[in-house]
Amino acid sequence: MTVDALGRAMRDLRVSVTDRCNFRCSYCMPFDEYTWIERNQVLSFEEIVRVVGIFEGLGVRKVRLTGGEPLVRRDLDQLIQRINSHYATLDLSLTTNGALLGTQAASLYAAGLRRINVSLDTLRPDRFRQITKRGDLQEVLAGIEAAKRSGMSPIKINAVIIRGTNDDEILDLVRYARNNQFEMRFIEYMDVGNANNWTLDKTITKREILDTVHAEFPVREIGRANGSAPAIDYAFLDGSGEIGIIGSVTEPFCSSCTRVRLTADGKLVTCLFSESGIDIKGLLRNGADDEQIRQQIIAIWSARSDRYSDIRWENLRNGRYTAAKKIEMITLGG
Ligand SMILES: C[S@@+](CC[C@H](N)C(=O)[O-])C[C@H]1O[C@@H](n2cnc3c(N)ncnc32)[C@H](O)[C@@H]1O
Ligand code: SF4
Repeated sequence: MTVDALGRAMRDLRVSVTDRCNFRCSYCMPFDEYTWIERNQVLSFEEIVRVVGIFEGLGVRKVRLTGGEPLVRRDLDQLIQRINSHYATLDLSLTTNGALLGTQAASLYAAGLRRINVSLDTLRPDRFRQITKRGDLQEVLAGIEAAKRSGMSPIKINAVIIRGTNDDEILDLVRYARNNQFEMRFIEYMDVGNANNWTLDKTITKREILDTVHAEFPVREIGRANGSAPAIDYAFLDGSGEIGIIGSVTEPFCSSCTRVRLTADGKLVTCLFSESGIDIKGLLRNGADDEQIRQQIIAIWSARSDRYSDIRWENLRNGRYTAAKKIEMITLGG
């Protein structure tokens, strides 16, 4: 087992398949100065499958495809099909904004995809357009329906809750998820990237979310899946499903973080809040064999000592927090 400098294993791989996106969510997208990854720098499906295989050999058990918006990458179903056929025991999932699920859900399912997370922060059309700038709520709801019809399960609905933006919809989102047998997952608003002007007062805390839900739909805590998932899960006492809450700002979980990230242009990133990544694509394209790449990944992971969210929380509490430069979320994959 490969462990990092703080004794954490490497278990989950997030692969950003593109930094492009059909939405422009205000809490995620960088401002104008962002330089998009050039197409010839984006890893091919062959390259991604090869790297996934090397990670699998190093103990990774879960792979999540993300971005940017992964469904804007052409023929994504073919990548899923290839990963599934080579590494059938991997737990493969996808995070999407859902806009293209209406046309792609059936082919993604046919390629072997079963688990998806769809981002949905509001059920109000005007607000949806305001948050995403380009999105259409009906299209996303229809996309989620198409995923359900295709047979995908579980379907998890991700909502980032921001004070003064959508914090009045926590219970509406819970009702929507319960009525459709989806699992609602609330995410504390975070200081990702460099342009979202984050301040702590905009974050609705995990505790606030839990109290709001619990007052209407009583829950009991289950804990983190596998002990290392970002969300703490809660089961409704009436037996009608679960919710998860990701409290990475106010209840950081760095000590159990087993996630490694691969950017669309083949950089390895060891933390969601990293300032930079380490290039793997160069090795892939310059004739390195799997063992050389494996040794490079081991070296990177062994040196990992990231604990950004722990430190952020310490600094927030003692008034020393300042925004640090980071890789954009669309680059490294949320
Ligand atoms: C970067 S997106 C990529 C996948 C896809 N485009 C989507 O929106 O689901 C992955 C997740 O990150 C979340 N996210 C983006 N910016 C965030 C922020 N500032 N704080 C918390 N979560 C954020 C999104 O809501 C989404 O659930
Ligand atoms: S959260 Fe997802 S859909 Fe929204 S801008 Fe970021 S990558 Fe695009």
